[in-house]
Amino acid sequence: MSKIIAVAGKGGSGKTTVAALLIRELQNRRKVPILAIDADPVANLGPFLGIKVENTIGAVEQEFRNAREKIPPGMTKASYLEILLNGAIAERNGVDLLVMGRPEGPGCYCSVHNLLREFIEKLSTNYPYLIVDNEAGMEHFSRGTFPRVDHLLLVSDPSRRGIKSVKSLIRLVQDLQLKIPEYSLVVDRTRSGIPPEIQADLNGLGARLLGVIPEDQEITGLDLHDLPITELSRESSAARAFSEICDLLL
Ligand SMILES: Nc1ncnc2c1ncn2[C@@H]1O[C@H](COP(=O)(O)OP(=O)(O)OP(=O)(O)O)[C@@H](O)[C@H]1O
Ligand SMILES: [Mg+2]
Repeated sequence: MSKIIAVAGKGGSGKTTVAALLIRELQNRRKVPILAIDADPVANLGPFLGIKVENTIGAVEQEFRNAREKIPPGMTKASYLEILLNGAIAERNGVDLLVMGRPEGPGCYCSVHNLLREFIEKLSTNYPYLIVDNEAGMEHFSRGTFPRVDHLLLVSDPSRRGIKSVKSLIRLVQDLQLKIPEYSLVVDRTRSGIPPEIQADLNGLGARLLGVIPEDQEITGLDLHDLPITELSRESSAARAFSEICDLLL
């Protein structure tokens, strides 16, 4: 069975960076193929992974709505949608990427939502790992788009506000009565570890601290040159720290 790891945290905390670092580490450890899902309507996991994205679930939903009469006789709606959804998967180096995007017309994904959930559930069985990069509000959690989440990987910057946001997200998940067996925390962009003022906030948070990722000039350089995180050298401080985090996570 696949392991579904969802990455979440407040806006700008480093979620997409962490999701991309995790996917890169899984590639290095030959745990492929990986299914990556970009669940942020402001999608940017593709560029972080060096994958060109041509289509989104939002666009497929619109196409499906417009093409209802064109479904060949004898074909179920689910099979037709499955063909369209399969066409929305972008691939590179053992990573399949599905971008949720946003509904293109008025409304939401409601009309296809159950079929979409079934598609993702069926698709997930082909992969040892499914990595979801969420938007700060975690809308797809409340919609129940994913069959389950096995591990919620929370990301924060080294600030008290960041850790408070993590606390709120854990409460949100509990209020939604989602049964997630494992919660953990990664603190990104540290300059000198975790400030002592924050240590107390970590106790009783309900998520295990797996480690910190230092502020890394190599990541800044990749961003400035519009290069993907997959290009990060293994010797960079962030890559080394994240590899140790993955020894605990995977
Ligand atoms: N360890 C790091 N060292 C240097 N720069 C970093 C590090 N982690 C993240 N960044 C940079 O911080 C910025 C925000 O990171 P990222 O896009 O991953 O955050 P996010 O939580 O996904 O944001 P959003 O809420 O907008 O989706 C990016 O420019 C990224 O390159
Ligand atoms: Mg992001």
